[in-house]
Amino acid sequence: TDKVKGKVTWSSPSNLAIIKYWGKHGIQLPNNPSISFTLTNAVSKTTVEYSARETYDGSIDVNFIFDGFENDAFKDRIKKYLNSIKAYVPFVEQLHFNITSENTFPHSSGIASSASAMSAIALSICSIEDELFKSLSDINDFERKASMLARLGSGSASRSIFDSWALWGKTGDVEGSSDEYAIGMKDHVHPIFHNLHDDICILSADEKSVSSSAGHALMDTNPYAPTRYDEAKRQLFYLLEALKQGNFERFGAIAEQEAMSLHALMMVSNPSYILMVPNTLAVIKKIRDFRKESGLPVYFSLDAGPNIHLLYPDHIADQLIDFIENEIRPLCVNGIIISDKVGPGPEQL
Ligand code: PMV
Repeated sequence: TDKVKGKVTWSSPSNLAIIKYWGKHGIQLPNNPSISFTLTNAVSKTTVEYSARETYDGSIDVNFIFDGFENDAFKDRIKKYLNSIKAYVPFVEQLHFNITSENTFPHSSGIASSASAMSAIALSICSIEDELFKSLSDINDFERKASMLARLGSGSASRSIFDSWALWGKTGDVEGSSDEYAIGMKDHVHPIFHNLHDDICILSADEKSVSSSAGHALMDTNPYAPTRYDEAKRQLFYLLEALKQGNFERFGAIAEQEAMSLHALMMVSNPSYILMVPNTLAVIKKIRDFRKESGLPVYFSLDAGPNIHLLYPDHIADQLIDFIENEIRPLCVNGIIISDKVGPGPEQL
């Protein structure tokens, strides 16, 4: 084991769910299937250096640098995470890790940093397994294990492993789907959705008022939860159809309903949370009015926060410039809109 050491680097994207995952059971298993697309620009870049430990005792030995600084809160989370996946990657307790990570997008921008960060770490651990044991040389085995390990870090991270679109959660509608890991969906999706735009309009820079783990837990006592899980499954079926056919209007209607359902569920939770700010509603009204007047297919989504994701196909981008600059940007904090798009998935550097 003297010579065991090495270094792997992955860049891995965040993703935006169109059918939302909200509510879980067991060990990070979803209460309904979800579908998302991976982003292009919003990525975590993570380097994991590893070397054999002299002695090991079941503990996890890791240093963690985030954006150039030691970060004890993140380090504890990584330690707990690596500890929790030991059954699948027993070698982690025999190694010392130096992990450095950085995001290309601002903290508290409302972009899910856990999806990009946890998927980048899971991919790195799988690369290390492959370097040490040559056990993941098949790309499908590699992706499946990376997605499964990413899921154990953050459910939504399971979907970031794939290019373009991904589905996580077992459904009779898609062969090979699983609650344990996500699967790539690019081949089931019309080209109009391969370069879908997602302009993220920053409407508040405040920290999230509820963590996603607390949010999932609130679903356990939410009186509307059973109806929600049924509805999500129905919506998934219709979304799959729209994605396949390239039906942008249908896609957009479902995206908006799902965003509103997520927020409605939070409002009726006990305790209740309002995750929108007044400008969230102002922007929603602008989008709906503009869509009506112009007839252009521009829609929105929301994550578990106040920021609006503006969704539209590439071929109308030029026709939206005036609307975005004059109507939307003035409502954004410091005029910040992060332009992003459906992306090519993670990359080993
Ligand atoms: O992966 P988590 O546990 O942070 O949950 C993410 C939940 C949502 O972002 C609100 C929806 C989703 O499916 O990504």
